[in-house]
Amino acid sequence: MSRLTEKRIILGVTGGIAAYKACDLTRQLIRAGACVRVVMTRAATSFVAPLTFQALSGNQVHLDLLDTEEESAMGHIRLARWADLILVAPATADFMARLRAGSAGELLDAVCLAAEVPVALAPAMNRAMWYNPATQENAAILAERRVHLLGPDKGMQACGESGFGRMMEPIELCQALEAIFTEKTLAGCSVLVSAGPTRESLDPVRYLTNRSSGKMGYALAQAAINAGAKVTLVSGPVLLEPPKEAIVVKVETAADMFNSVIGLASGHDIYIGTAAVADYTPAQVEEGKIKKHDEALTILLNRTRDILSAVAGLPSRPFTVGFAAETGHLEAHAKEKLESKGLDMIAANWVGQPEGGFDRDENALWVCWPGGEKYLPMASKQNIAIQLIELISENYSAQKNTT
Ligand code: CTP
Repeated sequence: MSRLTEKRIILGVTGGIAAYKACDLTRQLIRAGACVRVVMTRAATSFVAPLTFQALSGNQVHLDLLDTEEESAMGHIRLARWADLILVAPATADFMARLRAGSAGELLDAVCLAAEVPVALAPAMNRAMWYNPATQENAAILAERRVHLLGPDKGMQACGESGFGRMMEPIELCQALEAIFTEKTLAGCSVLVSAGPTRESLDPVRYLTNRSSGKMGYALAQAAINAGAKVTLVSGPVLLEPPKEAIVVKVETAADMFNSVIGLASGHDIYIGTAAVADYTPAQVEEGKIKKHDEALTILLNRTRDILSAVAGLPSRPFTVGFAAETGHLEAHAKEKLESKGLDMIAANWVGQPEGGFDRDENALWVCWPGGEKYLPMASKQNIAIQLIELISENYSAQKNTT
């Protein structure tokens, strides 16, 4: 289940080259379960044909404020009342100026003016146009009026220049809309998340690691941010872009991760240990490259310290959530870890299976806490993260109310 499931979204498309990205955005919104009606300005139709959006959204595209047939069927007021949210992507500098002025000359302008639901803009324009004081003032005033400004991003622009002004990518816009629809159950809370694998050096060129991609931890960090939390992410080496709003601490070894997490944990309300921390590290890191010989090589490994148990044992400990990666007896092992590590909650997942677990986009979790348990069936890691954050906030609030 996505937060966008069954949400009624008006996608406003204005006349900028990024209008082509609105086609993919329409598909992604539909895939997330939203019902989309597209409203295009006259200028937008010079970039993409309305028929494209009609085919992608499965709904007639709305174009003209003065179309009498249209006005009698779904006029601007009914369109505004139909929607749960209006997203204008791309939003040109001109559209932002019109919205600020309260103009109602085009259908999209009139719909936004009549809206009583959240309005979000994904600005897209040349970097100098974005930084022009007029646009900056328009953006500031719209933000003051609680219009959600999503982006713009920095990067290469269609005009050949580079800087801020690129429209956010469709996937990021969908995530931003999910955040707008998320109840802020963790408002005022700070959450520390550890994610990814650790790397234990053998010599200057080799290391021991595991198959963790960090996807589950990064999805949890994003879901906690969407629920209103301030998030710190302690991350092992991964190939993922962290959430923009998170404070990120990059680490490499289990010892680095231990020091960072223990240093930060007491200052946070909740700790979620998703990292696949190495249990063993080479007793010695060779200064030079280990040369090959004919006989077998034995490497002595020492135990690392368990971060989760150490966090749970702190005098001023956060609400502590562990993960368990298991290849067998999932529930029994997870319960044992919940008790032996002194945790408030544990989320167990199968690893080494054809679906879910390490380095996959989807996962299923069996979550257990003193006095309760819940199974979260196979879904994308983003959806699983939303459900787990809901469980964590419920249990965290219940614990806070009883102490
Ligand atoms: N963990 C940790 N520090 C370690 C090892 C693990 O904090 N040195 C945490 C992980 O982040 C995870 C939980 O412990 O939240 C369980 O990790 P898992 O690998 O499933 O179990 P282990 O405790 O390492 O035990 P085993 O490998 O024997 O299953």
